[in-house]
Amino acid sequence: MNFDEVINRFGTHSVKWDMMERLFGVPAEDGLSMWVADMDFRPPACVSDALQGMVDHGVFGYFGDDTAYKDAIVWWMQTRHNWTVDPNWIFTTHGLVNGTGMCVDAYTNPGDGVILTTPVYHAFARVIKAAGRQVVECELALQDGMYALDIDAWDTQMTGNERMFILCSPHNPGGRVWTQDELKQIADFCVRHDLILVSDEIHHDLVFAGTTHVPMTLAAPEIMDRLVMMTATTKTFNIAGSHIGNVIIPDDKLRAAFGARMGALGLSPNSFGLFMATAAYSPGGAEWLDALIPYLDRNRQTFDAGIAEIPGLRSMPLQATYLSWVDFTDTGMAPAEFKKRVEQGARIAANHGDSFGKGGEDFLRFNIAMPHSQIEQAVQRLQEAFSDLQ
Ligand SMILES: Cc1ncc(COP(=O)(O)O)c(C=O)c1O
Repeated sequence: MNFDEVINRFGTHSVKWDMMERLFGVPAEDGLSMWVADMDFRPPACVSDALQGMVDHGVFGYFGDDTAYKDAIVWWMQTRHNWTVDPNWIFTTHGLVNGTGMCVDAYTNPGDGVILTTPVYHAFARVIKAAGRQVVECELALQDGMYALDIDAWDTQMTGNERMFILCSPHNPGGRVWTQDELKQIADFCVRHDLILVSDEIHHDLVFAGTTHVPMTLAAPEIMDRLVMMTATTKTFNIAGSHIGNVIIPDDKLRAAFGARMGALGLSPNSFGLFMATAAYSPGGAEWLDALIPYLDRNRQTFDAGIAEIPGLRSMPLQATYLSWVDFTDTGMAPAEFKKRVEQGARIAANHGDSFGKGGEDFLRFNIAMPHSQIEQAVQRLQEAFSDLQ
């Protein structure tokens, strides 16, 4: 594993790099792509070897018998998250945006309200709206520069039309790892308002030292009859193109409803994703991940220190994820102005904060999962683009 290697991703149909110029106007010749959440690193060798084994064999027929795949998930959740999963609880979807859409479809009706704690991962709202449901934005509070729950305010916001709460745990953007107590408060909120809780834990392996992620099933076992868990190998091991995710449902009734929708749509996963995920949830994958986290931590420290030197800019201290959430409020600039400086001045593509919903307007999200030398370049470019503020 060599996270320092700068890998040219142009010409590979990479949404992050090949779409950068078209989407952000950042020139391909010397732009830095720091938007969508995939890393510029190769996955663990065990994953590439599994794929190479398929290619070497050379016959790509239908996949059968997912026992090894499910055993690998069970092993990972037990050893890394202390969570005992029954293999019969696991559905395999075409990724977790698909998993979210399936949950909205299975557990709500057109017109129902689906709660998001904003600012939050933008695809949730996209899926909810496309399905003809209402997005209910419950805004997170800011406490000591980090996101916090605002349950009392949310209680007063409820109308009785809400059916589902989608939690992002750890939170994207902002990188909060919710505490056991906070998770319990969310569970109580869902009981109080009779909501299905979908806990998207896709970032659960990308947690920095000093903080522990608690799976919602462990924080609030009493709400199993309204809880759907979602996990994936794709963020952890940088294999998002394999489009595979796990929707894990301990409750019989909720599982039956989800299974019925999967069956009605004729959904089943592709064999490439299954091979790659099985290989990733292994001791080799664990070793790679244990090397990745300190590397990301160094990137985080370099990026945060560089941002802190620019008057008016502040990056939220990340407890998890490689997605730095930078607040431009104190520059006094309108979003159009700070975006222009970042995209045209620094030649960096970063996600626009307003796409994450209420509360994100004055932020940009920077993906720091790239070689450290490029993080240093990014910092230098940003400092130059805002040098008049010094
Ligand atoms: C919270 C969250 N859920 C889901 C996804 C995407 O999931 P998938 O690629 O499996 O559809 C992302 C991607 O960044 C994410 O941040």
